[in-house]
Amino acid sequence: EKGGHAHFMFKEILEQPEAIRKTVSPRIRDGRVVLDDLCLTEAEARRFSRIFVIACGSSYHVGIVSKYNWERLLRRPVEVCLASEFRYSDPLVDENTLVIVISQSGETLDTMAAMREAKRRGGRTLAIVNVVGSSIAREADDVLYTWAGPEIAVATTKAYSTQLVLMDLIGLYLADLLGTVEPAEYHAILEEMEALPEKMTEVLTHVEDLQYLASRYFNHNSIFFIGRNLDYALGLEGSLKLKEISYIHSEAYASGELKHGTISLIEQGTLVVALGLYGALFDKAMSNVVEVKARGAEVLAVTTERFRERMEKTADSTVAVPDTHPVLQPSLGVIPLQLFAYYMALQRGCDIDKPRNLAKSVTVE
Ligand code: M6R
Repeated sequence: EKGGHAHFMFKEILEQPEAIRKTVSPRIRDGRVVLDDLCLTEAEARRFSRIFVIACGSSYHVGIVSKYNWERLLRRPVEVCLASEFRYSDPLVDENTLVIVISQSGETLDTMAAMREAKRRGGRTLAIVNVVGSSIAREADDVLYTWAGPEIAVATTKAYSTQLVLMDLIGLYLADLLGTVEPAEYHAILEEMEALPEKMTEVLTHVEDLQYLASRYFNHNSIFFIGRNLDYALGLEGSLKLKEISYIHSEAYASGELKHGTISLIEQGTLVVALGLYGALFDKAMSNVVEVKARGAEVLAVTTERFRERMEKTADSTVAVPDTHPVLQPSLGVIPLQLFAYYMALQRGCDIDKPRNLAKSVTVE
């Protein structure tokens, strides 16, 4: 059942290229995004002045990536909310609000309740769900499925990745409808989207690098993830994955916030995972690496091939993934972070597929 692997989590990490292919390829035809399963009309899409993304945990992190990507593509404000906060916040939702709800299981109670609250206020709901026929899928105005297949490990990997690409596809679709994306960019993203499975496979051929790094770092008891923009969003997911299964305390910070408090925690030997995949801000990422190194940090950097050499000069260890369009870069960047969490947990002898105190689907408040 685990396909010869020790854990479902590892099997599911390896399944990502295929899961992405299944989620993306039926939705691209003749170089255009086609969302046959979407009922939302063009006129309705034009009406939205506000967009909310509501979710919990890793699905919420997908929302944060999408905020950056959608605001870039759609030039509309996107607000990302934790479902547990949204439902009690007297949210500003009306008939001109699009509410995207993201949930792998489709059964998360807070997410469900938040969606009901949004509907009650007249919002138009669109759910991104993996489990077909689940409660959230049944109640949403629109549902688009991620085709990740069953995910067994508590720590999500392939569901997260498919949610990311599906959100990118919807963002592109809406941007095209609203005329807010240049045709050249639209086509460039779609082309790279189709190349993603292959590039993911390429990242997955280097699992031993992460295994080796975990053998070097597994004794650390507190780890920081830093990055800007999409790299910050990625850091949130990397940090959650690590905490969830290895029980190592970790935190993700927007690099620009370091000087506002966090940098006082950096001392000799503190492990900092520095994310430098977002090309437009790579120089800033580099200077943050220099800064934490100067305070004694050990830096594990994740970047892209394009920046590998520059990063290697300063970081203690560097992992590089293939370059792609900036909008899609998190889809490749997350894989080393998943593998890092996995091997750290393995080194520490943790129960990887069923971490303590956690359930796959959170159906209580
Ligand atoms: O099924 P959902 O996507 O609604 O679940 C939301 C979270 O409970 C989930 O993403 C959780 O954070 C994962 N275990 C993280 O790996």
